[in-house]
Amino acid sequence: MSDLYESYTELSNSCAGDQQQKLDELAKQQPELAQQVQALLSHSDYAFENLITKMHQGFFEQEDAEIRIGRIIDGKYQITQLLGQGGMSDVYKAKRIDGLIKHEVAIKYFALAQSCEVALAMIQKEAQILANLDHQFIASFIDIGHDDHHEPNIMMEYINGITLFEFLHSAPSEEATDQVNKTLNSAIKHAQEQGIEHGDLSKNNVLVDHNGNANIIDFDIASYTAAKR
Ligand SMILES: Nc1ncnc2c1ncn2[C@@H]1O[C@H](COP(=O)(O)OP(=O)(O)O)[C@@H](O)[C@H]1O
Ligand SMILES: [Mg+2]
Repeated sequence: MSDLYESYTELSNSCAGDQQQKLDELAKQQPELAQQVQALLSHSDYAFENLITKMHQGFFEQEDAEIRIGRIIDGKYQITQLLGQGGMSDVYKAKRIDGLIKHEVAIKYFALAQSCEVALAMIQKEAQILANLDHQFIASFIDIGHDDHHEPNIMMEYINGITLFEFLHSAPSEEATDQVNKTLNSAIKHAQEQGIEHGDLSKNNVLVDHNGNANIIDFDIASYTAAKR
């Protein structure tokens, strides 16, 4: 679990006076982290409050990840299967159901967030980072929205492939490994040029698609580097 997530959770549950004191202490020890937490705490516009209100109606209903299968996203996509679960998220495949075009997407939920507010703040943070990136080997951002149970999520490009972990255990050829390295490095370079540090490039956060290219996913603990902050 990230420092940002932990600090944000602690401070968002503190009363106003305590919150400022804790934020001041954090700023002395970890100024960058304090700045990020403060940014999350300051989200309070109408759209944000509105989504939180909607989320409260359905957020605590789910018992396990399977319960979201069949849900409708923004009236257009339906969740068909669970793709994977990480440290704090459930990610699903969804297909377009309005009959206009055939399209599949990935939908990410922050399942383990301790409150609706934290889940939404994390969604906004990752969505903004994804939206700042534009690279063929980074899963593209599509939208931020909510399902018919009022639970918010991120919609992004569906990567049809296997994790880097599975790839490395499949006895890949030297040529295949080179291709993965090359495409991965080009994606990392792009993110760095945009001032974004992924922060968790583990073997489950890189997918190798059917063309043999690496695709980076999971920017939920990514941060902005000093140059761009
Ligand atoms: N865009 C995607 N396309 C296909 N599968 C995905 C996509 N995003 C995530 N997944 C699957 O879901 C798993 C968990 O997603 P991830 O974003 O890494 O969650 P966490 O932040 O909890 O680690 C991944 O390891 C992968 O198997
Ligand atoms: Mg992950």
